[in-house]
Amino acid sequence: MTIAYIGLGSNLGDREENLRKALEVLGAMEGIEVREVSEFIETRPAGGPSQPPFLNGAAAISTELPPQRLLAALQRAEREAGRVPRGVRWGPREADLDLILYGDLVLSTPDLEIPHPRFRDRLFVLEPLASIAPQGRDPVTGETIEDLLRRLRRRKSGKKEPRLITRRAELDEYVAMVKRNRFSLGFVPTMGAFHEGHLSLMRAARARCDKVLVSVFVNPTQFGPGEDYERYPRDLPRDLDLAGEVGVDVVFAPSVEEMVPPDHSTWVTVEGISDLYCGASRPGHFRGVATIVCRLFHMVRPDLAWFGSKDYQQSVIIRRMVRDLAFPVEVIVGPTVREEDGLALSSRNAYLSPEERTRATALYRGLTRAREAWLAGERDAAKLAARVRRELAAAEIEPEYVAVAHPDTLAALDTVGEAGAVVLVAARVGETRLIDNVLRVEEGS
Ligand code: PAJ
Repeated sequence: MTIAYIGLGSNLGDREENLRKALEVLGAMEGIEVREVSEFIETRPAGGPSQPPFLNGAAAISTELPPQRLLAALQRAEREAGRVPRGVRWGPREADLDLILYGDLVLSTPDLEIPHPRFRDRLFVLEPLASIAPQGRDPVTGETIEDLLRRLRRRKSGKKEPRLITRRAELDEYVAMVKRNRFSLGFVPTMGAFHEGHLSLMRAARARCDKVLVSVFVNPTQFGPGEDYERYPRDLPRDLDLAGEVGVDVVFAPSVEEMVPPDHSTWVTVEGISDLYCGASRPGHFRGVATIVCRLFHMVRPDLAWFGSKDYQQSVIIRRMVRDLAFPVEVIVGPTVREEDGLALSSRNAYLSPEERTRATALYRGLTRAREAWLAGERDAAKLAARVRRELAAAEIEPEYVAVAHPDTLAALDTVGEAGAVVLVAARVGETRLIDNVLRVEEGS
């Protein structure tokens, strides 16, 4: 038995009566049960000749009929509800029953396409459908009905929707167009689950570049065994909405197959700095980051690329790779965006319990104490680190590391010199691994 969704429409005669009649006929047929019917809404005709307004609705049915026979059943119900064949495409009609979804079937034949080929673009289908099956899924895109409706409403309201590209071939075409037109291209690589940190980088890119492309790819090669690759938050519809709000032109969200060929065997390793700090506790992590960013740079060919200083070590590694391998891209590192209480925004903050969330503020508090000590003249790295450790201890947090390092080379310092320092910390709060840093403390940043 399959759950199918039917779109209903009528704009001739007693419209409500016609739709009720069609449903009644349908429900009386063998192998079909009408489960739920939405309210009917009045809508303007979407195309075709000038004609009266429609009454539209949606129904959920359960059926044992295969799709072709269900289609024939819908046509019979239309006729019995009074539909007269007129031969006018998109013309007025007494009853119109469209098969929208049939379980999670995707079918494309000359006389039947499932899902209905235009249902994603029609408010008069999605609105009633969302009222009875908000969590139903489009088997092609994986989006829920609710997501589709939200996105369509946004599109209709005139707000910009970024273009979603998932395939390399389509990306190549887009990038070729950008280059042909000599547009400047800004790029923000991400793993999605957007927050203000990501959005701040996109805004900066929007302000400087003709075109802005954001990649959303949860990169399996940078997660170690037992890390959170599977449960890492993923919400592409929401990310598309947010990217649209800040004026992103394209969201590139490739599949794993597209980004990591099954026999992939070439790696980019930025030696030395990749083994320090986070690299020490996450072996192979920065190799995965550098390799995927390298691949993305080749595919996207950006003029400028934005990274956040929240992941300070990552930004140093990317800069080094760009320099060593002569990538024709300018790397820009944006400031860390924080919650009001100082906690650096991170997709992983979502894992924290309320109690852990409170304790997590100790990271930034500790870093702030270290900066205050530096501003008061302290130059001894061990003493600066001790300030951080003290705050962590008070919150019962055992750090993975606290480091006072040269801001460009990340070499550990004994004494802070002319170049200033970055103070880096990583710690588990409960099960959740958090990182933070304060940068170039000589500027009091
Ligand atoms: P992700 O964690 O999604 O972060 C994408 C970008 O947003 C990174 O450059 C990161 O430093 C930046 N960012 C994260 N939190 C921030 C905050 N609170 N303030 C400012 N910027 C912030 O970092 C990655 O993805 C991946 O490693 C990636 C570079 C995409 C390679 O897979």
